[in-house]
Amino acid sequence: MNMSSSVTFEIEDRYMAPFFPKQKISIERGDGVFVWDEEGRRYIDFTSGWGVTCIGHAQPVITEALVKQSRKILQNPNSGLTYSPVRAGLLELMKEVLPSHLTHIFFSSSGAEANDAAIKLARKVTGRLDVISTHQSFHGRTISTASATGQAKHREKFNPLMPNYRFVAYGNPDDLKHALDPDVAAFIVEPVQGEGGVHVPSAQYLKDAERLCRKNGALLIADEVQTGFCRTGPMFVTGEMGVNVDFLTMAKGIAGGFPFGGFAMSEKVAKRLEFGDHGGTYCGNPLGCAVAHAVIKYLIDHRISENVEKMGRICLGRMREWKQRYPDAIQDVRGKGLLLLVEFTGSETATRVADECLLRGLFVRQTQGSGIRVFPALNITEPELSEGLAVMQAAIEAAAG
Ligand SMILES: Cc1ncc(COP(=O)(O)O)c(C=O)c1O
Repeated sequence: MNMSSSVTFEIEDRYMAPFFPKQKISIERGDGVFVWDEEGRRYIDFTSGWGVTCIGHAQPVITEALVKQSRKILQNPNSGLTYSPVRAGLLELMKEVLPSHLTHIFFSSSGAEANDAAIKLARKVTGRLDVISTHQSFHGRTISTASATGQAKHREKFNPLMPNYRFVAYGNPDDLKHALDPDVAAFIVEPVQGEGGVHVPSAQYLKDAERLCRKNGALLIADEVQTGFCRTGPMFVTGEMGVNVDFLTMAKGIAGGFPFGGFAMSEKVAKRLEFGDHGGTYCGNPLGCAVAHAVIKYLIDHRISENVEKMGRICLGRMREWKQRYPDAIQDVRGKGLLLLVEFTGSETATRVADECLLRGLFVRQTQGSGIRVFPALNITEPELSEGLAVMQAAIEAAAG
């Protein structure tokens, strides 16, 4: 069925729950970093579907994995009670790319689910209740992950949230040190804050967090939902830094657009868990496993880490030039790899720039009002990146130049 955009708008506006302030564009298909709307207009996607389509839209290796696995089986009889060769294959590959001390893995369908499970299991393992998280963090939208999210807009409408959640300043080990006490089960932290405005902490921060948690007997949960799978360069930030986390949670890029996620944990933690502590209908479903395997293999075989480092450098370099050129409009530029942000002097300017980008055929993500986040597919080429950056510069010029 080929509907025109206006029909799609009307149906979605009528029946879709009103949680998103919609952009009036109906996307029909994609190819790499490009997408097309129902009228055939081409756009560049600098959001990769919010950090998800890490190896591009309509990626052939994903299509092939989907088709091949869907011809075999989608969901096992008795789900996780039975064995699956495709899940075993993914587990083996994950073991290769995860920090080596993380020995046991369980799959979910989203990032919030993975964080929720890690928090729940940390309580079981430590016999403690409290969870420390950071201001400006984002960990998901379930009631427990909203409770761990340090942003009022995601919390205050749902009070009372879950008890026993506390917050410390991001990037500040002293604050964490003072908050840790014998009631704390876990500290959950993003290695780079994404939704909170792309904040990169000092190189020492996570190491300090590990040391402080160990001393206190609390577990360290690294939320790598946004940073994992080469988004910032390395496969995992905590892996690159040699930080021994107890749980590492993941989603988004893991399956390039198929809803999938998971968490990995240390042997020490896994030994304290038993049958029935966790589960779920879809956890490690064969279709998701096949896609995740194809995506991770692509990331390795195509040395995507190197591309991210290179494209990230080029992109941040251009952003720094803009900061010099438009000092009245741009306050800061920052980020790591291909998780970058331009901070404008106010949210009105950022809104104008984002609108101008869209008018010119570029999707960007306005973040925390005054920021515009750039997080394209990790296999983006230099000409594609340059094309998108030229559009963004023209938008800045039009909105704030
Ligand atoms: C760091 C982080 N954790 C958790 C989540 C929630 O993941 P999901 O939307 O897959 O539940 C997100 C989503 O943006 C995220 O950025």
